[in-house]
Amino acid sequence: MRHLLSTRDLTRDEAVAIMDVAEDMADVADREVRKLPALRNKTVVNLFFEDSTRTRISFEAAAKRLSADVINFSAKGSSVSKGESLKDTAQTLAAIGADAVVIRHGSSGAPRVLAGSGWIDAAVINAGDGTHEHPTQALLDAFTIRRRLHGGAARGRDLDGVRVVIVGDILHSRVARSNVWLLTTLGATVELVAPATLLPIGIENWPVTVSYDLDTTLAGGPDVVMMLRIQSERMHAAFFPTAREYSREWGLTDERFSGLRADSMVMHPGPMNRGLEISARAADSAQSTVLDQVANGVSIRMAVLYLALSGEQDTAATGTAHAHAASARTAAAQSEPSAHTEGR
Ligand code: CP
Repeated sequence: MRHLLSTRDLTRDEAVAIMDVAEDMADVADREVRKLPALRNKTVVNLFFEDSTRTRISFEAAAKRLSADVINFSAKGSSVSKGESLKDTAQTLAAIGADAVVIRHGSSGAPRVLAGSGWIDAAVINAGDGTHEHPTQALLDAFTIRRRLHGGAARGRDLDGVRVVIVGDILHSRVARSNVWLLTTLGATVELVAPATLLPIGIENWPVTVSYDLDTTLAGGPDVVMMLRIQSERMHAAFFPTAREYSREWGLTDERFSGLRADSMVMHPGPMNRGLEISARAADSAQSTVLDQVANGVSIRMAVLYLALSGEQDTAATGTAHAHAASARTAAAQSEPSAHTEGR
């Protein structure tokens, strides 16, 4: 894997292989010394043109656990605020010697432009572009679902037959788009629930069913209920009358949460608007995977950086996706003595 720009580009086998490598990375997190030497002498740049808490710090933690050097770049406080272009910024990073660029950008397609530009010879990882995609978020969501369902026997599995309901601001959500492509590739069925004003044009061409009625959909007993953040910062018009009405019609209120199956997962990518799209009781419940999603994000981002930078052959070209998982497992096992030495 050279770049990760979209979950739409991933086959089932590639997605399963990334999650299997992430299982190996999660095993490393349980060890006394949580560092692998796999990306020593590599430089990872976190290039964030939009705000982030979870994605930026988990990419930083992931790169550091793989022994890469990490440079954090935020557009605020940089020469971008003086008008510097993406091209000049990329060429500056190339001159510094970046091996991977993790980019979050307000414009849909910016990571693909960077990857195809020739401005920089680095792996490009999309950390969220406009309303387009957020592939590592979808991978960590799928990984979280797989782990909750299958625990220690998750390796090699897809999400065949899992029923996922995604609720809320689909229109502005790159998380929803990446999840729709990935979860359906992995065999899950996806149902979207939203007010008509928060559904994008062309939704009829997505591999999903659509409903406007949350109570009817939840009565079907989904395995997973994924609540989306209302993205007020991207709303330049009134998409629903009031926050109270939105919560009443499309929020996971205490009452709706009480009606869920006891083993239904409650997911949210964060940051959450508590009391708007999700109640505090639902968010803090044992059914909630919100903090698992954050922890699993480090394992998934370790896997993605490892696969992009470890010099392995392209999985799609060679058909050896599972060889990557085995290779990462070997690297993790072999590193244990030296990692302990480093820790002293
Ligand atoms: N889920 C997510 O992308 O969160 P951040 O915006 O905090 O990175």
